[in-house]
Amino acid sequence: MCGIVAYIGSEQARPVLLEGLKRLEYRGYDSAGMAVLNNGLHVARTVGRVRVLEQQIDGDDDFEGTIGIAHTRWATHGGVTEANAHPHVDDPSLGHGIVLVHNGIIENYAALRTYLLNKGHTFASETDTEVLTHLIGELYEGDLEAAVRSALREIEGAYAIAVMSQEEPDVLVAARQGSPLLIGVSEHGYIIASDAQAIVGHTSRVLDLDEEIVARITRDSFHTADLDNVKVTPRMRELEVSLDQIELGDYPHYMLKEIMEQPQAVRRCLRGRIDASGGEVILGGLGEHARDLIRCQRVVFLGQGTALHAGMLGEYLVEDLARVPSETDFASEFRYRNPIIEDGTVVVAVSQSGETADTLAGIREAGERGALTLGLINVVGSSIPSATDAGVYLRVGPEVGVASTKAFLGQVTAATMFALFLGRRRFLSNNQTVDLLHALEAIPDKIAQACETGDEAKRIAERFVQRDNWLFLGRGYNYPVALEGALKLKEISYIHAEGMPAAEMKHGPIALIDDGMPAVFIATRNSQYRKVLSNIEEVKSRGADVIAVATEGDDEIVEIADEVFFVPDAPEPLQPLLTIVPLQLLAYHTALLRGHDVDKPRNLAKSVTVE
Ligand code: M6R
Repeated sequence: MCGIVAYIGSEQARPVLLEGLKRLEYRGYDSAGMAVLNNGLHVARTVGRVRVLEQQIDGDDDFEGTIGIAHTRWATHGGVTEANAHPHVDDPSLGHGIVLVHNGIIENYAALRTYLLNKGHTFASETDTEVLTHLIGELYEGDLEAAVRSALREIEGAYAIAVMSQEEPDVLVAARQGSPLLIGVSEHGYIIASDAQAIVGHTSRVLDLDEEIVARITRDSFHTADLDNVKVTPRMRELEVSLDQIELGDYPHYMLKEIMEQPQAVRRCLRGRIDASGGEVILGGLGEHARDLIRCQRVVFLGQGTALHAGMLGEYLVEDLARVPSETDFASEFRYRNPIIEDGTVVVAVSQSGETADTLAGIREAGERGALTLGLINVVGSSIPSATDAGVYLRVGPEVGVASTKAFLGQVTAATMFALFLGRRRFLSNNQTVDLLHALEAIPDKIAQACETGDEAKRIAERFVQRDNWLFLGRGYNYPVALEGALKLKEISYIHAEGMPAAEMKHGPIALIDDGMPAVFIATRNSQYRKVLSNIEEVKSRGADVIAVATEGDDEIVEIADEVFFVPDAPEPLQPLLTIVPLQLLAYHTALLRGHDVDKPRNLAKSVTVE
């Protein structure tokens, strides 16, 4: 979704801003813009890609300043037009030249707009952001920081903003509420960004801006205070993201790079957290809440999209390994349906970005109702970790491809460790735990083997690429994998795909099956294997072409499936960490063959920060 980059320092702002915008492209956007102060205010905006903006200002001396702000917009209020693109400028008649970029949504913008119209303002766009810019202009009395603070006191909603004024050409003001913003401290100046990826390469030192804190940044200093102007000291930390982690290297696409990184990503997620021989799971992030967790009565997982599927696996794992009643919910449904939180309820938010608006709101709702709240989150310093009581970071590194792959494996690995952490203290014997932990320790190497199914995936994709309707079916632990396999295919290849429990098919969807419909079965050797074989026979006899994901060495499945991906054997609770891999590769190759941009699929944003 939207991205912010701003710069103030001793270097030219334009290249820093353009590079930052390019690094944020993966988030998804529809228009871009930049403003630079250089003997006055200069603004450029465009619909479309950052490279179009770059061409527009290339060689333009006006943009040769050392302070500037830039933005990629994903439309919410108002269509995809140049006028609606950021940066927005305050009312020209006031002559302040205040210019602003904004992520988030100003919920009370309509009332503020009416107020400003009555004051004689005229608006050039349909956006809520322009209303905030005009409000700052209306309140400006020669001190930008004070005007921003006053305006933010009137605002309802979420924001991350960077603001400057031609009347104070050496000052950048930034603030956030419910939307991330970081300040990178480099040797040549400050880079303010909504995402660490725009800062990496300039510096690894960042300040985390807390909610409702306003930062006033000059070329060589910064000052932070709350909305009542009470000084606060921001937290400084080292970024854990390095440049090579966000660069493509020799890979053609981030999605493929991130699939192939999965063995290493899961290894990092496990490192230092399991002691297989001792039968121990050590999750330091659960801290002082460990005792309450062990006594919990119910665990609810919340997420959206891929994270929801990981949450479903968390539910199965917690019930199976810890014998604690568990369920999963779309965070978007949970938050609005008056959820019941009893004593002993633990609610776990699952999210790669840590910024998904519904998941963030859902976990806050759970906390307000008295639940102990946890996060299984990838991005350090994002909003969900600060909204939860405790958590486990995924540590899989930055995920750039919009289709989530290695974060899913990280989420499932973290959920597995969490279930084993509870299980060991409630239900599992030491021997059972030791066996499962040894198996978990061996999983990264097995994922590496599963990653070798790429050529097979390409060949199978070539065979079925023209088919427009697909089914993905699994039972037990492999049912959420079926959902995830279908989501991967639909989001990047735009093929209609449905995932469901294999047994559910007979209750209606079987009517869809006709000659040549691809039916993907996750049919590993486990407690439900025989039942899945029967389901395969049922679809085959109605003309479907069966693609199976099966356990290495299974000769039986070769007799009935049209195509088979083999993955190594593993205990049933760990099989999803393997069975999803060929399905990611199948989706990747199918999308490529259809000529789609796999890293930036249409209409999608990497992180959905609006409801
Ligand atoms: O950042 P999150 O994990 O909270 O994101 C949740 C979903 O938006 C995300 O998983 C989405 O479904 C992906 N595009 C799936 O590949």
